[in-house]
Amino acid sequence: MSGIKICGMGHYAPPKLMTNEDLTKIVDTSDEWITTRTGIKTRHHCVEETHADMCREAARMALKNAGVAPEEIGACIVATLTPDYLAPSAACLVQRDVGLPNDTVCFDLNGACSGFLFAMHTMECLLAASPRKYGLVIGAEMLSRFINWQDRGTCVLFGDAAGAAVVEWSEEYESIHALLGCHGDSDMLGVTGAGHADPPQIFMHGQPVFKFAVTAVPWCIDQVLARNGRTVDDVDFFVFHQANARIIDLAVRKYRIPEEKYYKNIERYGNTSAASIPTVLSELAQQGRVGSGSRVLLVGFGGGLTWGAALVEFK
Ligand code: ACO
Repeated sequence: MSGIKICGMGHYAPPKLMTNEDLTKIVDTSDEWITTRTGIKTRHHCVEETHADMCREAARMALKNAGVAPEEIGACIVATLTPDYLAPSAACLVQRDVGLPNDTVCFDLNGACSGFLFAMHTMECLLAASPRKYGLVIGAEMLSRFINWQDRGTCVLFGDAAGAAVVEWSEEYESIHALLGCHGDSDMLGVTGAGHADPPQIFMHGQPVFKFAVTAVPWCIDQVLARNGRTVDDVDFFVFHQANARIIDLAVRKYRIPEEKYYKNIERYGNTSAASIPTVLSELAQQGRVGSGSRVLLVGFGGGLTWGAALVEFK
């Protein structure tokens, strides 16, 4: 036996809010369409803040809540597809800004909206070989910089935020038994990069991605529960990637998850890709709805296409 547990959570979102009403001045849309199709009312957009600023604030909050000093961190992974620089990595900037030791293993990981799950699994493996048993896992996105303001199908969806977890590895802990996968596809959903002449931009065909998501979520839940030898009743809280309130509602209905066991913040944040799961976890911890001993099932899906799930415990 060996694995990781969460010791503390943190999050940060820039104060500037972009409302549905604001968007009606930019594209042909309405509050009614956005609310009924997605559940989103507002999203945070960076103005002066950088991606590094968001990571630093979320990381400091997580370290404080965990009662762990920066010198105790052995590895730092930032799950992101929107860092300030392609190099240096966002994780190297966290090392600088938070004061992690110089021998901390720091790197970025791109798993799109499933990135936090990919990073948690990678951290579990890394810490097994680390002399220091605490790790910092951050999901952070500044998607507002990559919005195509001509495309009403995507520009209403995305926001900026960062969420961070301090985790501890121990031989005494159970593994999170992460279930991760991908199906390579560059047509359905993504953000363009070096293979394109124009500046990077988000693109998505909403309907096929929606269909993929509503198939992937229950598949992930079934697989991760089976892998852990658990049932839905053994789970204290379900945390879904916040891409669309309707996707979460379908899963909640299918598994008859009671209201007190799941949470949506998509109304206030929109889709923040890799930041969405840790931001939800941090808000739940702040509200005292998850804490010591809580067993939480995390489910993510998104660009790649990627998917992932894990059963994570709080220390
Ligand atoms: N305002 C008004 N009308 C709009 C808007 C808008 N903002 N956007 C699209 N429409 C119109 C379309 O033009 C279309 O009109 P038409 O019928 O006249 O052609 C109509 O609304 C329906 O469009 P759809 O794209 O079919 O709308 P849908 O109900 O599928 O909702 C949405 C779109 C919200 C994007 C949905 O498909 C969705 O949530 N998909 C999944 C998103 C997701 O899970 N992403 C994964 C993570 S993202 C990542 O990894 C970075």
